[in-house]
Amino acid sequence: MSQTDFDPKDFRRALSQFPTGVTVITTLDADGKPVGVTASSFNSVSMEPTLVLWSIDKGAHSLAAFEKAEHFAVNILGSDQVATSNNFASRGEDKFANAAYSAGLGGAPVLDDYAAQFECKTWAVYEGGDHLILVGEVINYRYNDVVEPLVFARGRYAISAQHPEMINTASPCDNASQENDFVSDYLLYLVRNLYQELSASLYPKLQNECDVNPEEWRVLSRMLSCPTFKISDLTDLVMQPEVALRQTADWMVEKGLVEYQSNEVIKITSKGTEIATQLRDIAIAEEAKLLSQLPADQAGQLKDNLKTLIEKLG
Ligand SMILES: Cc1cc2nc3c(=O)[nH]c(=O)nc-3n(C[C@H](O)[C@H](O)[C@H](O)COP(=O)(O)O)c2cc1C
Repeated sequence: MSQTDFDPKDFRRALSQFPTGVTVITTLDADGKPVGVTASSFNSVSMEPTLVLWSIDKGAHSLAAFEKAEHFAVNILGSDQVATSNNFASRGEDKFANAAYSAGLGGAPVLDDYAAQFECKTWAVYEGGDHLILVGEVINYRYNDVVEPLVFARGRYAISAQHPEMINTASPCDNASQENDFVSDYLLYLVRNLYQELSASLYPKLQNECDVNPEEWRVLSRMLSCPTFKISDLTDLVMQPEVALRQTADWMVEKGLVEYQSNEVIKITSKGTEIATQLRDIAIAEEAKLLSQLPADQAGQLKDNLKTLIEKLG
């Protein structure tokens, strides 16, 4: 019995402030069929012996397979593996149908693509409330340094980026010539800096003016032009996996911003439309403030050029 009466949604939201990576953990079931789940509860435990852990929901279909498995493999996903994460987070029967993999230690599937991989022998299984905690001894591991790891924070996928405070715009070298200063002239660096500056000034305004967080703002901004959305169609647009998006939608229903038309479809309410319009005006004003630093024709040109590049990259 719990000593507390926390609101489970609110407690989950508090926990989601801690960013994690995303893994797909795999094994073979009693019939030798591959099973796999998306899990963010992975963590390192010990260097001697080399131990890692993760926890599995007792309600998961694959619980029995993992509880009895002698081996499992932890596939740490890269930032281009959102679809893989969503696939293994589903309750689909054959999650491996579209996955490229081979048999690793004890037959546990190792994915062809990964940021890192740990092949484990089950070391201990502990009770953990509504989860089981699985500890594995790492027997083999490998990693891909060039692959950026996928990040999960506040219920949405993210990529790890250098913190702006770590980026020193002033050159440490007095005699650095302008044309040799590669970083401060590099497009990726410029776009990322701009994104961070803009969102750092916009997000607190959304919260203060309308009590809307960035996840809710992403949903509202999409619904301004399309008032009804199937949750599964919205996941990619707002960078949330379906389980997390459903939580965001539940919060938005509580706030009266959207309503469920069915289990699969949400519709923006008149209150939601009013707030989304107000927030859009705030976002446009923030953008205009920034762009007013450029001559009018160049501001438009900048956006057109960025759109062209995004289209060309496809
Ligand atoms: C980013 C992310 C992290 C997750 N982390 C865990 C986890 O650590 N443990 C867990 O049991 N389920 C986790 N899940 C949910 C499972 O992937 C999901 O319930 C899946 O359907 C379980 O598959 P199964 O029912 O076929 O076993 C996570 C889902 C996502 C999207």
